[in-house]
Amino acid sequence: MSQRPRPETICVHPPEVPESASRPLSPPIHLSAVYKIAGLDQIDALYEGGDSGYTYRRDGDANSDLLAAKVAELEHAEDALICASGMGAEAALFLATLSAGDEVALSDNLYGKTVALVGRELSRFGVGHHFFDATRPESLKRVLTPTTRLVFVETLSNPLVRLADIAGLAEVAHSSGASLAVDHTFAPLLCRPIEMGADFVTHSLTKLIGGHSDLILGLLAGPRERIARAKAITSAFGLAGNPFESWLALRGVATLGLRSQRACATALRLAERLAGHPGVKHVHYPGLSTHPDHACASRTLEGGFGTIATIDVGGRPEADLLIRSLTGIPFAPSLGDASTTLSHPATTSHRNQSPDQWARQGISAGLIRLSFGLEDPDDLWDDLKQALDRLG
Ligand SMILES: Cc1ncc(COP(=O)(O)O)c(C=O)c1O
Repeated sequence: MSQRPRPETICVHPPEVPESASRPLSPPIHLSAVYKIAGLDQIDALYEGGDSGYTYRRDGDANSDLLAAKVAELEHAEDALICASGMGAEAALFLATLSAGDEVALSDNLYGKTVALVGRELSRFGVGHHFFDATRPESLKRVLTPTTRLVFVETLSNPLVRLADIAGLAEVAHSSGASLAVDHTFAPLLCRPIEMGADFVTHSLTKLIGGHSDLILGLLAGPRERIARAKAITSAFGLAGNPFESWLALRGVATLGLRSQRACATALRLAERLAGHPGVKHVHYPGLSTHPDHACASRTLEGGFGTIATIDVGGRPEADLLIRSLTGIPFAPSLGDASTTLSHPATTSHRNQSPDQWARQGISAGLIRLSFGLEDPDDLWDDLKQALDRLG
C-alpha cells in the first residue's frame, strides 16, 4: 500500500516477527495456522520438498516437529510424527499400513480403545484381526496368515503390566512379511523397541512423556518412508497434533528421566509393601518376583520396572471403598502424572468389553491400577494403608 493505511487496516494486519541476532533458549510457540508464501515457485518447492518449511498447520508445524525429532532420537527411530492423541497415532499407523482384506494380529493384553478401534471400527472397512499372547512368540505363529500385515503389542500392557517379548515377536512377524508395532506408552526410556526389532513405536504422549495431565497428544515413530505415508494419512484424515501441546510435551521430556527414575523406585517400594497387606489379593508389578515376566523384565528393562502397579482388592465393592477412602490419591482415569493417581480398568479403560475379553486379559472388577508419581513414598503408603485397612 502506497499511502498511510487507515485505522481498520492497521488493526487487521499481523505484525512481522521481530528479527533477533541472538536465538531464544526455549523454543517459541508457532501458533499460526497458515504461512505467507512468496510465490508459486515457493509453494511448489514447499509441497515437493525442494524447500523446507510450513504452509498449513494440518500438514505439520514447527513445535510438533521439534517434539517428534526429540522422541525419535530417544527411540532410535528414523522419523516420527505427532498426532492429536495416542489413539490418533494408532489410527495413523493402521490407516497407513492396512487395507480391506488385510489382517492385524493384536496382543490379548491391550488398552481397551485399541481393541475397539480395530474390532469395532476397522472391521467395518474389511480389516480382520486375531488375538495372541505377546509374552509367547510361538502364540503369534499360530495366528499369522498370509494377509497379516501388522502385529500390535504394548511393551508393558495395560493394566496387568505383562512384558511383550519384542525381539521374539519381531522375528516371527518378519518371517511372514508382517510389521511389528509397539505401543510404548507405559515404558518410555526403559527399553527401545526399535533396537529390539520393532518397525514402529507409538506413544500416548498424554501420559508419562507429557507428565502433567495437561495435554493430549500421540506419536508414531518408524522408518522414514513409512512415516511419510503416515504423514499423508494424518493430513487427509485431520489427525494432526497442535503446537501449544507439543511445546508443553517437549517441556515434559526435559524432566522425563528424573521423573521416570523416581516414580519407578516408588512403584517398586510400594508394590512390595502392597504385596504384604492382607487387603490386597494380588499385586501385578514386573519388579516383583511373583510377576510372570519378572525374569524377562530384569533382563530387558533398564532404570526400573515401570511406574504402574495394578492391585486386586477382591471385587467392585472393595474397589469402590478403596477409592472413596483414599485421601491423597485421586481416581483419575489416566496415568503418568507427576502426582500419583489411580484408575479402575473395568469401568474405564476396559469398559464395554465382553466377559470373554475380560477373562482373556485377566481383568476383573476388583482391579485398581496405580500410576505412581513423585510424592514422598511414605506419604503414599500411609494413605494406601489406612484405606486398605478399611477393607477388612
Ligand atoms: C497404553 C495406552 N495406549 C494408548 C492410549 C491412548 O492414548 P490417548 O488417550 O492419548 O489417545 C492409552 C490411553 O490411556 C493407553 O493407556
